[in-house]
Amino acid sequence: MGFRIMGTGRAVPANAVSNDDIAKFVDTSDEWISQRTGIKNRYISTGETLNDLAKEASEKAMEMAHVTADSIDLIIVGTLSPDRIYPSAACELQANIGAVNAIAFDINAACSGFLFALQIANGYFATGGAKRALLVGAEILSKMTDWTDRGTCVLFGDGAGACIVDYDKDAVVTFSSGSDGTKGDALYCNNRPINNPFLKNESSLDHTHMDGQEVFKFAVKTVPRAIEDAMEKAGVTAQDVDVFLLHQANLRIIEAVAKRLKRPMEKFPLIMSEFGNMSAACVPILLDTQIRNGTVQRGMQTVMAGFGAGLTWCAAVFVY
Ligand code: ACO
Repeated sequence: MGFRIMGTGRAVPANAVSNDDIAKFVDTSDEWISQRTGIKNRYISTGETLNDLAKEASEKAMEMAHVTADSIDLIIVGTLSPDRIYPSAACELQANIGAVNAIAFDINAACSGFLFALQIANGYFATGGAKRALLVGAEILSKMTDWTDRGTCVLFGDGAGACIVDYDKDAVVTFSSGSDGTKGDALYCNNRPINNPFLKNESSLDHTHMDGQEVFKFAVKTVPRAIEDAMEKAGVTAQDVDVFLLHQANLRIIEAVAKRLKRPMEKFPLIMSEFGNMSAACVPILLDTQIRNGTVQRGMQTVMAGFGAGLTWCAAVFVY
């Protein structure tokens, strides 16, 4: 019992920003960024909203799946950067695409958001609450980036990836997910401060803070374990897996995971060079690029994994 991916889509802002562009306003270089992260380019909004991108990506996914918006019964948007605090990005997307029959809500599991959305949708399928879901990972990270901090501003990009997923009673799908709130300070951005007639607060809006080495250690330890756990539940080994679609935080994390799983890097498609780290949008955009370029084909044993702030992580094993 599980799901089948029917269609995918992606959207990014028009404004492409190279490492050299960033080196014009912070003390960095293409060489440093490329070597440490694998990132060479990212797309940064000059006006596109999260829901502009989510709508475009969703319409492409519906087109690939040959489905209409009114056939969707569940919309989940994984995001930590919605246009509005409320209502949710998912409700706005529902209105924008005319998915009049859907339940819609957001989840915030940071870079694991799309995988958490997939696991939640699978739970809806299992309990008869939905038969067709539109799952979106979407971020405008640039609005919470400190553009004077070279340690973080070089890493992130904006984008949205979408996926139409149908209930399939014959599919075998397994997950392994978790959270560790005690490590929340490794990667965070505070919300607007308390400010009311009883507590005056002059603080300005916060931006992303990251302990890069702590995040690195967490990722290389936890992600292989989660993947191994999900593979064990599915009764498959790493050798049986055709493709590993991992969150694109940086190249060195993916190389370390590949080494731990004893699989060659050719099994781990990479897109961070073009898109940077787009948090919840990474995995669905990676999936879309690899389906459209023919790397991911029907019948392939597939692993997807997300990991990030929270800390959170989630791995899924399924046949595309
Ligand atoms: N350009 C040039 N120099 C820089 C830059 C930059 N963009 N950023 C940092 N440096 C400098 C630092 O100031 C420091 O200089 P110093 O030695 O004179 O003090 C030096 O480079 C080393 O800094 P570190 O922070 O120790 O660099 P590190 O080797 O750890 O690399 C990185 C940083 C790439 C972020 C690394 O920690 C990493 O890969 N972390 C994983 C976390 C990650 O990928 N986060 C993404 C978001 S989280 C997620 O998606 C799960």
